[in-house]
This record gives sequence, structure tokens and C-alpha cells, in this order.
Amino acid sequence: MIISGNSSYKANPEVIGLLDKILILHAEHGMSCSTSAARHLSSSGADVYSAIAAAIGALSGPLHGGAVEATLKMLSEIGTVEKTPEFIEGIKARKRKLSGFGHRVYKTYDPRAKVLRRLTEEVFSIFGRDPLIEVAIALEKAALSDEFFIKRKLYPNVDFYSGLIYRAMGFPAEYFGILFAIPRMAGILAHWRESLDDPHKKIMSPEQIYVGECRPRNYTPMKERTII
Ligand code: ACO
Repeated sequence: MIISGNSSYKANPEVIGLLDKILILHAEHGMSCSTSAARHLSSSGADVYSAIAAAIGALSGPLHGGAVEATLKMLSEIGTVEKTPEFIEGIKARKRKLSGFGHRVYKTYDPRAKVLRRLTEEVFSIFGRDPLIEVAIALEKAALSDEFFIKRKLYPNVDFYSGLIYRAMGFPAEYFGILFAIPRMAGILAHWRESLDDPHKKIMSPEQIYVGECRPRNYTPMKERTII
């Protein structure tokens, strides 16, 4: 489907095997932001298409599945291993976040990132080594030995190495989010199905605790306001 217009194209079985592993790795991951968005919608009785659209919308954010593309962009911006110390200093000075690092639940090395790191080498053995891997390795090494990241328990997540893999396979960056969303459909739909069968299902409507002003406040009545 991807190599459209070339019906004689034969995919490399080794690459198919690698892609299968990556898709399985992304298939389900509990109540992530996107899956919980789908369950949220489903709890209102919304149709499954709306629930999935909500999930994909959440997944597209740079703090979630959008981090795959953001990480590769960041690695390209850094460009060389020599520039990593300066980049790390910028992160510590809160100029930006290190894409592909940190996780809402894992406060340790994301087990999926370990598998993906290994798969980068397998992919490179077929397509050739991407020089940006050296930047990624240098960033990881620098971060894992730096007090800022140690104290905050920040480790590579599932999105840190996957962009390099997809790029080596020839996928353009715009596909990265899609390559996350396709396998995650299995997990999201399983959650949706489970929610339909849940006899104790309630509409999800989180409680919000008001912490604003609790005293009367002065205001200018509408008729006394000047419209500029
Ligand atoms: N780079 C630098 N500092 C970070 C990072 C990061 N990637 N992640 C968290 N921190 C810092 C925060 O600034 C904060 O510091 P402070 O306590 O001094 O204020 C501290 O670590 C805790 O941060 P939280 O925002 O509370 O961490 P949380 O667990 O809520 O956030 C998240 C998780 C959103 C994934 C975050 O780590 C992040 O933004 N990472 C970069 C984006 C990314 O890679 N997202 C993909 C996640 S995996 C997935 O969704 C498939």
C-alpha cells in the first residue's frame, strides 16, 4: 500500500519482520492519554469512530505520539555529537524539553525503548547506519549521567529511537504518527470493547475542585462600561 503504483515491488521479509515487531510493541499500553481519550468519549455513548478520532487527536500531540517526529527533528537540529553538551545545558536551563525522554508512568528506562534501541542496529544492518544515531547515543549517555535527569527519573521512552528506525526504512516524518496510530488501534478498540461490556460503566466526568476566589469581588456594571 505504501509503495503505491509499483505492483512488482517485493518487500524485504527481514524488514517485514522488523516492522511487525515494532507494530506489536506499540499495540497496547494501558490508559495512555490517547486510549483514555477514547474511553472518555465511549463513556458518553459516542460512536466508535468519534472515540477513535479523539484518541488519534491526543496521540498527535508532541508530548505523546507526536514525540517520534519531534525527537527526530531535535536530533537533526543538534546534528553532531559535539553539539550535545550545549544542547543538554539548554534543557537544564529550561529552554525546552528533551523529546523522547520521560514518561507519565515509567520512572525508569521504558522497556520498549530498550527493544527499539536493539532494533535500530538490525535496521541499520540492512539500510546502512544513520549518523544521527551517534547523536541519540551521546544524548542518552549524557542525560543518564547528569544529576538533572537522574533526580527527575528521566529515561528514554518508546519514541526516542523509533523515528530513526522509520527514517532508515524510508518513511517520511509525516508517517511517524500514523505508524504509531495504526498498531495502537488494536489496544484502543480492545478498551472500547471492554467499556461496552462493563456493567458498572459511568460517564467519565472528572471532578474539578475550585481553588479560585471565594470572596465577593467588585465589578463595573455592564451599563457603566465604556466600549472602545
Ligand atoms: N526533558 C526535560 N525535563 C523534563 C522532561 C524532558 N523530556 N520530562 C519531564 N521533565 C522535567 C519537568 O520539567 C519537571 O521538572 P521540575 O520538577 O523541576 O519542574 C519534572 O521533569 C517532572 O515533569 P512532569 O511534567 O511532572 O513529568 P510527567 O511525568 O508529567 O511528564 C511527559 C511526562 C509529558 C512524557 C514528559 O516527560 C515530557 O514532556 N517528555 C517529552 C515528550 C515525550 O517524549 N513524550 C512521549 C512520551 S511516551 C508516549 O506518550 C508514547
